[in-house]
Amino acid sequence: MSEQVLYRKYRPQSFADVVGQEHITSLLQSALRLNRVAHAYLFSGPRGTGKTTVARLLAKAVSCEKPKNGEPCNMCGICKEFSAGMGLDLIEIDAASSRGIDEIRELREAVRLSPARAKYKTYVIDECHMLTKEAFNALLKMLEEPPAHAIFILATTDLEKVPETITSRCQHYEFRKISTPVIMSRLAELAKREKISADKDALQLLAIFADGGLRDAESMLGQVLAGREKLTADDVRLVLGAPKEEQVLMFLEALLAKNPAIAARVANETIDQGADPQAYLKMIIRTARHLLLSRLDREESVRIASELSDDEQAFLQKHTADTSVPELTQMIKSLIDAYWMSYRTIFPQLPLELAVVDILRDSFTNENTLKKQEI
Ligand SMILES: Nc1ncnc2c1ncn2[C@@H]1O[C@H](COP(=O)(O)OP(=O)(O)OP(=O)(O)O)[C@@H](O)[C@H]1O
Ligand SMILES: [Mg+2]
Ligand SMILES: [Zn+2]
Repeated sequence: MSEQVLYRKYRPQSFADVVGQEHITSLLQSALRLNRVAHAYLFSGPRGTGKTTVARLLAKAVSCEKPKNGEPCNMCGICKEFSAGMGLDLIEIDAASSRGIDEIRELREAVRLSPARAKYKTYVIDECHMLTKEAFNALLKMLEEPPAHAIFILATTDLEKVPETITSRCQHYEFRKISTPVIMSRLAELAKREKISADKDALQLLAIFADGGLRDAESMLGQVLAGREKLTADDVRLVLGAPKEEQVLMFLEALLAKNPAIAARVANETIDQGADPQAYLKMIIRTARHLLLSRLDREESVRIASELSDDEQAFLQKHTADTSVPELTQMIKSLIDAYWMSYRTIFPQLPLELAVVDILRDSFTNENTLKKQEI
C-alpha cells in the first residue's frame, strides 16, 4: 500500500466526514440548506487541514441533483462526475504550478458560458496566493461582477499574500490545525477500515508528528502500515526516528534536577540509538510545554492530561509544583534554539549538549565560584 493511496482513498465524501473544521462545515451546510450559497469563498489555513476537500464538497453539494440536509447525495450524475474529477462544470486551477496566467485568461472567456449540466460552474483556485499580479487583477474583475451561474472557491496556505481587494470580496473561512485527539481518532478509524490493529500510543505518536495536519498524519500512517497487520508505538518510532518516551522524560528530569552530566548522557545515548535529533527535541519541547501549561493553569492541566500517557501524567504531577516559570521559559527557549540549530549542525548531538549547558548555565557558574573559594 503506498502512502498516497491512504489519504486519497479516504478523502471525505460528505461534510460529516470532515473533522476538526465544524465551525466551517456547519455554516456551509446551513447556507446550502437555505439556498444561500455565496459567489466567492476563500479558504485559508495550514496545509493538509481540508481546504481542497471542503472546496470540492461544496462544489459538489451546490450542484447535486438531490442534496440532503446540505450534503451531496453522492449518487446522482453530477456527484459522480464531480467525485471522479471529470465534470465539465467543476474547474480546478492549481496556481502553484501555472501561476494562473493562461488559466485565468481562459477562465474570463469561459465564465460567461452557462454550465454544461450542473446548476453552477464552480471554479476551485488552489494555492491562489501564487497567482501573478495580472491573474489577480483578472480574477478581481470576475469577483466584482460574478455571473449568476458561477461560484469561485479560492484556497490558500498563505493568506498574507492574497490581496485585500480579493479577500474583501470573498466569504472567508479559516481552517484550523487539527488537535491531537481528533487526528488520533481519525487515524484509528482508517486503521480499522484497513483491518489493522493499531495501538493508541502508535497513533498518538503519529498525531504529534503530524503537527495539526491530517494529510501528513494519514500519509505517515500509510507509510508505517505498509505490510503490517498490527501497529505498535515501536514500529512508528522506528520509521519516524522518534525517541522512547522514557528518554524524553529522563532528559527533562535531569535538567530539572540541574544535573548536566546525566542530561548530556541521556541525550547522547538516545541519538546514538538512532533517534532523529529533531524528533527528539520536538518531543522534549512538547513535554516541557505541557509542564509550563500545567504550571500556569490547573484547568488546562486537566484538559491536557487526556492527551498524555500515564508516564507523562505522572511526570507532570511530580514536577509541576516545584518548577519555576521563568526557568522553564528559559529552558523551552533554549530547546527551541537547539531545534533550529539541529538542521545545520555538524554533530547531531551538539545542539542538545549546548542547550544543556545554556539551560544549566548557573550551575556551572556556581561550580567555578565554589572551586575558586576552595582555592
Ligand atoms: N479536516 C479534515 N477532515 C478529514 N480529512 C481530512 C481533513 N483534512 C485533511 N484530510 C485528509 O487529508 C487529505 C488532504 O486534504 P486537503 O487536500 O483537503 O488539504 P488542504 O488543506 O487542501 O492541503 P494543502 O494546503 O496542502 O492544499 C484529504 O484527502 C483527507 O484524506
Ligand atoms: Mg489543497
Ligand atoms: Zn448528488
